[in-house]
Amino acid sequence: VNLKPYNSFGLPAVAGTLVRIREAADVRRVVDHPQLGRRAKFVLGGGSNIVLTKDMDAVVLKIEIPGLRLLEEREDAWIVEAGAGVAWHQLVQWSIDAGYPGLENLALIPGTVGAAPVQNIGAYGLELKDRLESVEVVDLVTGRAALLPASVCKFGYRDSVFKHEGFGGLAGKSVITRVRLRCPKPWQPVLGYLELERKIAETGIASPSARQIFDWICEIRRAKLPDPAQIGNAGSFFKNPVVSEEQCRDIIGRDPGIVHYPMPDGTVKLAAGWMIDACGWKGKAVGGAAVYEKQALVLVNRGEARGAEVVTLARAIQESVYGRFGIRLEPEPVLL
Ligand code: EPU
Repeated sequence: VNLKPYNSFGLPAVAGTLVRIREAADVRRVVDHPQLGRRAKFVLGGGSNIVLTKDMDAVVLKIEIPGLRLLEEREDAWIVEAGAGVAWHQLVQWSIDAGYPGLENLALIPGTVGAAPVQNIGAYGLELKDRLESVEVVDLVTGRAALLPASVCKFGYRDSVFKHEGFGGLAGKSVITRVRLRCPKPWQPVLGYLELERKIAETGIASPSARQIFDWICEIRRAKLPDPAQIGNAGSFFKNPVVSEEQCRDIIGRDPGIVHYPMPDGTVKLAAGWMIDACGWKGKAVGGAAVYEKQALVLVNRGEARGAEVVTLARAIQESVYGRFGIRLEPEPVLL
């Protein structure tokens, strides 16, 4: 099976075996299968956060579990449940339409519901961990299902227990089959992010509804992020690095314009996109892989890019940012 249509970067790679998972019991069937059971597994959601650099030996489990419902209405929250195969944006759209607001800041993030907890998706002042109630998983060795509360998911900035291999990590060891989200009552907007404040100033709408925020977020994202259906990409290619206050002062001394955000714990988050831009990378290419013209943090596929070209471009960017700022940028998607 060619995986090109199954990864948002549109990179070519072949998988020997691909199994479509329509329900949790399908995972168990794979686990119990005499041949497939023993082989390594790779869980594929929307493929929007991976960079494929070679063919896949593992059995690919393509997660297509459907379902959207209100699970429970509590005094202080709506608990909604979605199948891991649902497109994330579809869940956000449905929750707004159905009257369970609270996810609007995360509108238009590519990928599936099941992939959202893996990297703790986040945007415009909200992270998945702020809304996650629990995650239903199936163990890839025993085939047993379990409900994991948010507290055991070890969420961090673009990070979780599902991203880590080895002791204590769950990468390659379990499959997310369903996700439950908590939308708090009464609804309160998450504003404060510069671009949202700008919308408020422009429109004069001081108390936007959830739907208004949803519309604004869609506009903001469409203006500067490429639509993977048109131009292959995996969203932000690098994480925004976090440095000490001292380190940041050093960098500001040399580059006063650097965009940075003080964090509650005294550290400072630097805008990787600004640094890459400052190094002159916008629009530069290696083969079919290029730096997006409108947002230097995003690498794109101009057509026939190969994974190796994306990796070469990423390394060159890392070196030049390190040379100028002394900061090592870490890739955000999973390199395979
Ligand atoms: N900037 C530049 N040039 C560029 C790109 C950015 O000067 O080419 C500047 C911007 O003007 C801005 C600052 O850098 O002042 C930060 O940029 P932006 O607000 O666009 O946010 P970001 O740091 O690029 C992060 C997330 C996005 C998320 C937005 C909004 C990461 C790695 N990225 O991007 O998440 O949508 O904030 O919250 O944390 C993703 O993870 O795939 C993603 C798109």
